[in-house]
Amino acid sequence: MKKIAVFTSGGDSPGMNACIRAVVRTALHEGLAAAGICRGYQGFIDGDMYDMDHHSVSNIIQQGGTILRSARCAEFRTPEGRRKAYENLAKFGIDGIVAIGGDGTFTGAHIFMQEYPDIKFVGCPGTIDNDLMGTDYTIGYDTAINTAMEAIDKIRDTASAHDRLFFIEVMGRDAGFIAMAAGISTGAEAILVPETHTDIEGLIEKLEWGWKNKKNSSIVVVAEGDEAGGAHKIAEMVKARLDHYEIKVSILGHIQRGGRPTCMERVRASRMGAAATRALIEGKSNVMIGIVNNEIVYTPFGQCIKHQQMDSNLVEMVDLLS
Ligand code: F6P
Repeated sequence: MKKIAVFTSGGDSPGMNACIRAVVRTALHEGLAAAGICRGYQGFIDGDMYDMDHHSVSNIIQQGGTILRSARCAEFRTPEGRRKAYENLAKFGIDGIVAIGGDGTFTGAHIFMQEYPDIKFVGCPGTIDNDLMGTDYTIGYDTAINTAMEAIDKIRDTASAHDRLFFIEVMGRDAGFIAMAAGISTGAEAILVPETHTDIEGLIEKLEWGWKNKKNSSIVVVAEGDEAGGAHKIAEMVKARLDHYEIKVSILGHIQRGGRPTCMERVRASRMGAAATRALIEGKSNVMIGIVNNEIVYTPFGQCIKHQQMDSNLVEMVDLLS
């Protein structure tokens, strides 16, 4: 292996820069050349790539976003797009690649390697959703849940001051991990996630009980992918039945994707970036790096699909504590 490139793809997440930095510095330390590819797979096709040295990644570990930019690229799904990508990689002398992204990113790499086996890929899990098999944490999740927690704490202050019921929508198109962590850590009265059936009648009973027992505020955290609808739709259903409540809706949105990564985020992203680079040098390929029980593990790309299980103990605990 001579030159290792790194790129970020799909939704960005805080900690991606720490991971890029670790890849570049580990490659250089091991005597290899390093490069960055811009805007995900679009940069492969456009030849938007550049050589990186030690200073290319200075002063980025604390920054959210990604210095390499990110994108979702339809053209890479076509054989013609992948051929252009291969030609650009060959021109640039790249033979090993660290892909930072989610399951769509790894699926793209898996297909590409079947067609062009001389290019090796290792992945690092980069998504705020924490929904990949093969790792306890994805890069961005810890920062996102802390951002959501801080925002919900603030909403709780104003909710209490006005005796209001708030429906707060957090990100998670297919997964409720952000909702679950943000909701438990803020003492939410209910948490609605796509992994479990949302029982609107049960929710109404619970909120009514709170009203009768003089709770002076209530928070319902809703994952955007909940099957009963988003926060607006669920709030309307509840409002139709509990008209004595003053109900407000707040959508936290993309603030959850930005911001300075937390300390653990930076540490985990650095570990994963360094491990991915070492894995390529050792000849591994077609695997995602993860951290499970604080150990680095390798999971084949084909198995890093989004996972849907929610810890049932957590679900029970929400009912017990609220
Ligand atoms: O996959 C990460 C994520 O933040 C999801 O939680 C969310 O549904 C989606 O990306 C939003 O993507 P976009 O910024 O492209 O709208």
